Amino acid sequence: MLGDCRRAQHSGRVERSYIEGERGIGKSSLASLVREVADRDLRMLTVHVHLGGAKTLDEMARRVFKGLAESSQNRPWYAKLAGALGKHLRSVGLFGTRVEFHASREELTNLWQNLGTELRGLLGLLQGDREGVLLILDDINGLADTREFADWLKSFVDGAATSGEPLPLHLVLVSLPERRQQLVDHNPSLNRVFSIVEVQPLSDEDTRQYLLGALRSVDVQVDEEALRLILRFSGGYPAILQEIGDAAFERTEGDRVGVVEAAEGVVDAAQAIGRKYIKPEVLDAIQSSKYRSILGRVASLTVGESFSRQEVLSQLDDAEQKVFDNFVRRMRELDVLVQNDRGSYRFKNELNRLYYMLAARAQELPTRQERERG
Ligand SMILES: Nc1ncnc2c1ncn2[C@@H]1O[C@H](COP(=O)(O)OP(=O)(O)O)[C@@H](O)[C@H]1O
Ligand SMILES: [Mg+2]
Repeated sequence: MLGDCRRAQHSGRVERSYIEGERGIGKSSLASLVREVADRDLRMLTVHVHLGGAKTLDEMARRVFKGLAESSQNRPWYAKLAGALGKHLRSVGLFGTRVEFHASREELTNLWQNLGTELRGLLGLLQGDREGVLLILDDINGLADTREFADWLKSFVDGAATSGEPLPLHLVLVSLPERRQQLVDHNPSLNRVFSIVEVQPLSDEDTRQYLLGALRSVDVQVDEEALRLILRFSGGYPAILQEIGDAAFERTEGDRVGVVEAAEGVVDAAQAIGRKYIKPEVLDAIQSSKYRSILGRVASLTVGESFSRQEVLSQLDDAEQKVFDNFVRRMRELDVLVQNDRGSYRFKNELNRLYYMLAARAQELPTRQERERG
């Protein structure tokens, strides 16, 4: 990613990357890290724009320019930038710590239609201060839905390549894998435009180091058995790791996380993750303890893999076997499961799979009382 930044700086061309991965796997964190380094070490003009909820290119343009102003606030070159964007900017908040960007619809449209020219213009003004632009468009979910965005993206990239004028820009898009697919469906020539960076789950060793580090920073130790429990349930997902780690810490009274606190943490975390990440329709559907236990069983059986009807059926008791086909139908309607081919399924989303596993297993974990009774 930083290599692409440098390449853009040296070649004066637009480099393009696409960070993809499931929710909670660390895409935005990776993007922030790259931004930080590009700003500090490569002296780039950087902006990380969150486009959640944005549905139009006008809104994208507004957030991009607001973001550019915000990321330059309190920096030596701010006056130059504010001079260029001046009439659109307004500082708000008691100490002028926030920036609002006001522009008419026409002005916004102009900004995205001529984004290359605008960025080139800003870089011209900031010569000596900043070299090249890193533009990160994060959470493009609403936009990926639209043909308008896909077409704009393609023509922006093509336009920059053929304009004959340099534009040292590293453009980074961030989304779920299925959103990237949507974009390509809208405009198939986008297929080869981006180098794809797939964010993977953390390894066990990284997870362990991260957790130990986090606990050490608050002067807390963790038992090996507790650590292994947390590792197993987090599945390498930073978002889950953080939920469990926080919850286990909350449950700890002394300065040592034992297996009981870890187990309680898992139960608490399952609830928090359910609230944050799982669609209410799905939660309703798995209220039935039968569905929840089947789902949990299936989720534990099949880490990242497909499973067949036969395989799962053999693991279920009679009552569960009876409802299995209805269960599968319902889970497919809810987009929890997807069918690969006849009789073979997989989970649509790995983070959610881990939640189902947590939620079902949480009930089986020992409570403090049981544990104390031995
Ligand atoms: N490498 C990492 N190690 C530890 N925690 C991380 C790491 N990457 C992300 N996190 C944490 O995990 C959570 C989810 O990360 P985030 O970047 O928001 O994921 P995404 O954008 O893919 O949904 C955040 O709270 C973040 O602080
Ligand atoms: Mg994110």
